[in-house]
Parts: sequence; structure tokens; C-alpha cells
Amino acid sequence: MSKAKPSARKAINVGLLGIGTVGGGAFTVLSRNQEEIARRAGCAIAIKVVADQELDKARRLVGKRAAVTADAYEVIGNPDIDIVVELIGGTRVAKDLILKAIANGKHVVTANKALLAQHGNEIFAAAQKKDVMVAFEAAVGGGIPIIKSLREGLTANRIEWIAGIINGTSNFILSEMRENGASFEAALKEAQRRGYAEADPTFDVEGVDAAHKLTIMAAIGFGIPMQFKAAYTEGISKLTQEDIKYAEALGYRIKLLGITKRKAKGIELRVHPTLIPERRLIASVEGVMNAILVKGDAVGQTLYYGAGAGAEPTASAVVADLVDVARMLTADPGHRVPHLAFQPDQLSSVPILPMGEVETAYYLRMRVQDRPGVLADITRILADLQISIDAMVQKEPHEGEEQVDIVMLTHLAVEKNVNAAIAKIEKLPVVIGSVTRIRLEELS
Ligand code: HSE
Repeated sequence: MSKAKPSARKAINVGLLGIGTVGGGAFTVLSRNQEEIARRAGCAIAIKVVADQELDKARRLVGKRAAVTADAYEVIGNPDIDIVVELIGGTRVAKDLILKAIANGKHVVTANKALLAQHGNEIFAAAQKKDVMVAFEAAVGGGIPIIKSLREGLTANRIEWIAGIINGTSNFILSEMRENGASFEAALKEAQRRGYAEADPTFDVEGVDAAHKLTIMAAIGFGIPMQFKAAYTEGISKLTQEDIKYAEALGYRIKLLGITKRKAKGIELRVHPTLIPERRLIASVEGVMNAILVKGDAVGQTLYYGAGAGAEPTASAVVADLVDVARMLTADPGHRVPHLAFQPDQLSSVPILPMGEVETAYYLRMRVQDRPGVLADITRILADLQISIDAMVQKEPHEGEEQVDIVMLTHLAVEKNVNAAIAKIEKLPVVIGSVTRIRLEELS
């Protein structure tokens, strides 16, 4: 094979803000694959300057290949820099840097899901005004090209729903709990020991990180503004071994899913532990891996699977964005792919549904006195609120006790009715403690 001819197009100069795990990965991938990347981009892409507070570490990683500074503002003000890659994280300094970079006419690549989910509308509006691009493939699903797929590959479709395992840490914890019988606390410790969890693990285990990513996917899937505040978020920290085992006995696995659905009255936007049939492909996604199911009206279901975090997988997405931006740099801004897939003046104001209006199926577990008429009382409450039972199991009495666990799966029901039923059931004198409620999705 003959060697590729050097491109006639001017090299693209990149300023990298933050050379931590992902920044280091981006530097390595870009250096290692520079020839291949230049052949694809039609020009060389080079990181010219790196900004990081830990100067010595940055110098060690970069060597003589790029300039190093502790001042990120120096990079965004540098007239030689075409694209700024923001990998600092957080929403305060990163927001200021990105808005100033845009104001300076720089294109931006970022992996910052929290920032985009909360301030994306403002950032995209600023970018549109200045005719610059903000690319963010690495913000969702690490190395999985889900933004590209939703925004371009599925562009013919009316997206109906998206459901994904989009937080590797919580998926790892759930795998540990199911496969090794670990408690939630022990599994979280193991995830931290392996370096999977975010700096603040509550973002992972309470569903916040997943809600950031879901907000971004919903915006692109349905052509709506980012509405993180309207997302319902419930994590996995209260899940018990009992529920994992009972779910398994009924043919289900429990996963932390981000789910967004287009319904007649609005859009569902919710993150919570979810029972899913174990025969679905996505149910076998274990450990820190991510997977996202997208249902389009034309294509049907499509499934995207891969590493949702890690240095090089996430760098794969960052560098792909760099190539995309490099290719489109000289294009008429009106001909670029819009940030949220739909033209900015075509975003829809369809509301996000309050959680009470969401319709899904449910797993209910309760401990009751083993006496005649108890089940009749419970099923009457459910029937009065239009909640139909799909399956039910009564477990053996606990040794020496006259108490039994009842596990029920319901058909589709409206969440506010289920909440009302639970409140009534918990008031029955024969019911001990509270009712455990986990939502269930067939994903069919
Ligand atoms: N902490 C995230 C996760 C990785 O566990 O999936 C980056 O988004």
C-alpha cells in the first residue's frame, strides 16, 4: 500500500483543558493514530497546548509534544487554537471556559454531561450566535457512538423511546449483588476500589449521572430543549438481595435504566431501578458496560453496546468529535448537523410528564400476616384503582413466624394510582412495614 499523501489543508490546532483520565486518553489516541486520523479528516489534528493545574503531571505526560500551562484561560484566548477540548468536568469553571471559548470563536468538544444537561440550552444558543460547533459524543455512553447514531444514523425515524444502561458504576454494583450475593455497600466499595465511581459516588448510585445522560439523549431523540430538572431520578442504594432474588425467580433482572418515551400527553423522562425480562439482550449487559436501546418507527429496535467509561474508550468519542469538527470547519453553518439533531428553531415545547402520569408495570413486595382474607383486601385495593395483577407469588412463611412475603407483578398502571394503592395497603393492620415498589418494563 502506498503511503498517504500529506494533506494540503492547514493542520487543526487543538487546546486541551484537563489531562486527567480522559484527557490523557485523548492525547495518547491522537498521537498513536495521527496518520490514520489525518487520512480521515483530510488534515492533521494536533494538540498544541494542554492546560492542567497539575503542571508536573501534565509535563510528564505530554513531554515535548505540546506546550503546557496551568492557565486554561490562556488556551481559550490563544488565536492559534481552532478547537478547545474541555475535559475538566464540573459545571462552574467549565461553563465559564466554554462560553468564553465560544465568544472567542473557538469550536468546542466536551465530555461534560452534567454541564450540557443543565446549561446546554444556553451553551448551544451562544454557539449558534457565533457560528461555532459544540460536539459532545463522549458525554453519553463513553465510547459508544450513540449521539451520532441518534442524530444522524436514525434521522429518518420518529424516535418512540430510548432505554439505556448508562451508568457503568451502578451496573457493576448490580452485577456484583446478583452474581456474588454482595450487599449494596460492599459492591459500592469494590466499585470505588476499582476506580469506577465518580468523585461523588452519589451521582452514580442515585441516578444523577444517568439522568444527565438521559436528558441529552431525550433532547436529541425528540427535538426538545435540555430539561434535566424535569427528570425523575431514583437510584439503586435501597435495593436488597431479596428483591434481586425474587425478580430472578420470576424471570427478570434489575437494572438501573434511563428511560425516555414519547407519549400522547408528553414525554416520560425517568431514571430508576427497573425489572427487565432476562431474555432481552440488554439484560445480559454486566459490569461497567453500557447499552442503549433505541426504538424508531421505521427501523424498530436498535441496540448500542460498549464501554461507557475509561480513558481510551471515552477518548475514542472525543477524537471522533475532533474529526467531525475538523471536517465541518469551513462548511456553511447552516449545512452543519444541528447540535440537538433538529434545527434550533424547530425544537418542540411538548412537556415532560410528571412522574405521577407515567404508565408502566410494577413489581410490588409486601410482608403480611398469614391469615384468611389478607390477599382479598389487597387485591380489592388494587382493583379499585384500576391496577390489574399479571403474576403473583406467595413465599413460604418465615421460620417460627406467621408472616409471608407476597410478590406481585402488575400490568401497565398509572404511577399515581399505584402510589395511592401502596398508601392504602400500608395502612392495613395485616401488612408489616412498607411495600417495596420497583418499576417493570418489558422493552418489547
Ligand atoms: N461514572 C460514569 C459511570 C462514567 O459509572 O458510568 C462516566 O460517565
